[in-house]
Amino acid sequence: MPKINRIFGREILDSRSNPTLEVIAILEDGSFGMSSVPSGTSTGTSEAVELRDGDNTRYFGKGMLKAAGNVNNVINKAIAGQSFNSTLDLDQFLIRLDGTPNKANLGANAILGVSMAFTKALALSSKLPLYKYIAMLSDNKNKLFIPIPVFNMINGGKHGAGNLDFQEFHVMPSRKGTFASMLETGVEIYQTIKKLLSRRGAIHSVGDEGGFAPNLFTNLDALEILVESITECHKKPTVDVELGLDVAANSFFNDGKYTIKDRSSPMDAGDFIDYLRDLNSQYHLRLLEDPLTEDDWKNWSNLTQELGANTTIVGDDLLVTNKDRVVKAINEKSCNGIIIKPNQIGTVSETIAVVKQARAANWKINVSHRSGETVDTFIADFAVGVGSDYAKFGAPARGERVVKYNRFLAIENELGIV
Ligand code: PGA
Ligand code: ZN
Repeated sequence: MPKINRIFGREILDSRSNPTLEVIAILEDGSFGMSSVPSGTSTGTSEAVELRDGDNTRYFGKGMLKAAGNVNNVINKAIAGQSFNSTLDLDQFLIRLDGTPNKANLGANAILGVSMAFTKALALSSKLPLYKYIAMLSDNKNKLFIPIPVFNMINGGKHGAGNLDFQEFHVMPSRKGTFASMLETGVEIYQTIKKLLSRRGAIHSVGDEGGFAPNLFTNLDALEILVESITECHKKPTVDVELGLDVAANSFFNDGKYTIKDRSSPMDAGDFIDYLRDLNSQYHLRLLEDPLTEDDWKNWSNLTQELGANTTIVGDDLLVTNKDRVVKAINEKSCNGIIIKPNQIGTVSETIAVVKQARAANWKINVSHRSGETVDTFIADFAVGVGSDYAKFGAPARGERVVKYNRFLAIENELGIV
């Protein structure tokens, strides 16, 4: 393997106008990789540490000069001139260099930026497209395919305008044809939602992930708009196009109760599970993400026991792409699907290890962007490489989302599917 010539980090902006980190890795043979790190706002408490400057004289304390400095000084000094056999070797070196369990020292953002940039450089050096290189890293010998896109059409919770409690209202075209045709269906529904919302005078704006953030009265209203739009596009809801939700329950869980607009009084976990059961029998959700708060393990198991046969119960804040939490969830049968976000754990190889754990438990895999994104398409190649069932990259709108769906179109072409 060629030696690392130099690693370089700098502060750039993400899609929400917050600073984030860009990293360039240059190898001795001239191969290079450039990556940028996404950032969440509805984060799980157990995520690895995103290092921000905390200097209130710049970007309200959100600067990333410290993380960039860690790349340029600490990490570059430690690895320039060295050769690593694979991403795994480099990642293990970086984990030791950091020395903390949650990457608090160098920052998971700094470490992930280096891990992704190095992986891209190695792929180039090996003359492989990134998705094939990731497939190799993850021992995925299956035929490669494009995951089903999970389009986030309506944005509420922390990503919206404040009047919907649930964070994401998803539509997923069923896998009948190519990814290109699933994208076309998604776009037609997206444009139809816009038309229907305008008709109701409910358009507010779009939210952080490009979905609409409308003025509606209840969460149920948002689901109704999805059903109406799917039907108006001459598709059958739940047959041609399935529905999903990222409830992101942490964001409306206070003092042991769930408070949403659809009910006049706060609900305890039992009542909220009853509510979700009714909702599910009405809308036949394919994916139900973070339906409960992140530490209510017992009720996650109850809910999965009740609904898991027909609906994939997906852990995001519950699992935070963390192997120990995944082990616990497998043992307790807490869920049967997982959101995979590399920056929740902070290296490419640890992310791959969690995909393998989840796969071995027969869970559905949903590789996901963050609400604060860049135009990096690493995650699209990653999703194809690891053989993810689903990919959640936001609405089919806004550059930082569309660039990833467009990358799928290119990969689909390369794979010879279209
Ligand atoms: P985040 O939200 O990127 O703001 O954490 C995404 C999600 O909860 O799935
Ligand atoms: Zn989520």
